[in-house]
Amino acid sequence: MSANGSAGFSLADEARRMRRRLIAHIEAGGTTDLVAGTLGVPASVYTDPARFAAEQHDIFGELPLLAGLSGDIARPGDLMLFDAAGSEILLVRGHDGTVRAFLNICRHRGARLVTHCEPRQRISCPFHNWSYDLDGRLVGIPVGAAFEGLDRAAHGLLRVPVAEWHGMIFVIARPGEETIDVREFLGPAAPLFAALDLAGATPVHADTLPVRANWKLALDSFCEPYHVPAAHPRTLAPALVPWVAIYDRFGIHQRYASPGAEVKDYAGKPDTELPEPYYQGVHSLFPNTTFTVGRLVGIGNREPFIAFYRIFPGDSVGEAVAHGSIYLPRGGDPATIPDLEKAHASIMQVVSGEDFVIAADSWKRLASAPPGYRLTFGRNEMLLQQNHRLIADLIGMPIVS
Ligand code: FES
Ligand SMILES: [Fe+2]
Repeated sequence: MSANGSAGFSLADEARRMRRRLIAHIEAGGTTDLVAGTLGVPASVYTDPARFAAEQHDIFGELPLLAGLSGDIARPGDLMLFDAAGSEILLVRGHDGTVRAFLNICRHRGARLVTHCEPRQRISCPFHNWSYDLDGRLVGIPVGAAFEGLDRAAHGLLRVPVAEWHGMIFVIARPGEETIDVREFLGPAAPLFAALDLAGATPVHADTLPVRANWKLALDSFCEPYHVPAAHPRTLAPALVPWVAIYDRFGIHQRYASPGAEVKDYAGKPDTELPEPYYQGVHSLFPNTTFTVGRLVGIGNREPFIAFYRIFPGDSVGEAVAHGSIYLPRGGDPATIPDLEKAHASIMQVVSGEDFVIAADSWKRLASAPPGYRLTFGRNEMLLQQNHRLIADLIGMPIVS
């Protein structure tokens, strides 16, 4: 393993290998990667409130979830809130540079400690002004005599498991003191994510959208490009070769990539006659995050960007919340930030006006589907197959197909 954890993983080599595979599909007349079989799933996979409760508890309450990137809280005293998976969590970068996470609740009488995320040196409660340092220690009580005998050391902020790894910040969204082994969680995807160099990414914009559908229905459309020609005919489809994709599995995480329209012209040519490829892919970070790395197409001049989209369960089995965030990669030109902002706005518009409209309509139909109705994931919808199998296994309610 190299010093930076990427094990000699070269994004440039990976980009070359991936483009070769895409070109081969185009040379074969427009084929695509396929897995061995289809998977049928009952509508109840999306609509059963018992499954929903189990997913909230066993998946969103137990697995590491991406809370943000290091650049979101770059300096000591920076903080952010993460409330998408139940308890509201406060993430703080300490004076020692370490990120810590706490429940956003005062140990005095339960007030919400932080509402606005401006940087600070102390965390002071808006109710009676108890104060905590950036390590979460209780360091100030007005009228201290009134709390004589209180074990202050035992009244620090309640800790939440958190880990920062190569620019990614993960939490487990419940109180706890354990460490998160990110390398183990990422498994075979770890060298790739280390190579993406996310520690150097600068946040540009983030948004949240409500979705009127089960969270998995909202997530599904991020996990396959099969829908792009029909669902995004004027927005995304013109930039891509339709129905061609390559797929890779990295343990519980996955990736797909589709060829840009220009790749059609690369058929029959050796790499030496082609422009230097850049790394691009859509990474499915289990359980709920889609991580896109590439260049802006259609807006700007192919500037590099990093974006991720997270889907969380909403208040009921038929509601979800989508978070979208875009970043400027390390070495990216800050002059391109306006283009990144424009691209983010247009992606969110496409997601909300095209993907989530379909997801919400599908939700209504699935919620009232006739008994025995089953959905079918094709051999080209392998990300969905694996995600749904894994989710079902983790909650102990296997899919009966
Ligand atoms: S509730 Fe926070 S100081 Fe009283
Ligand atoms: Fe889509």
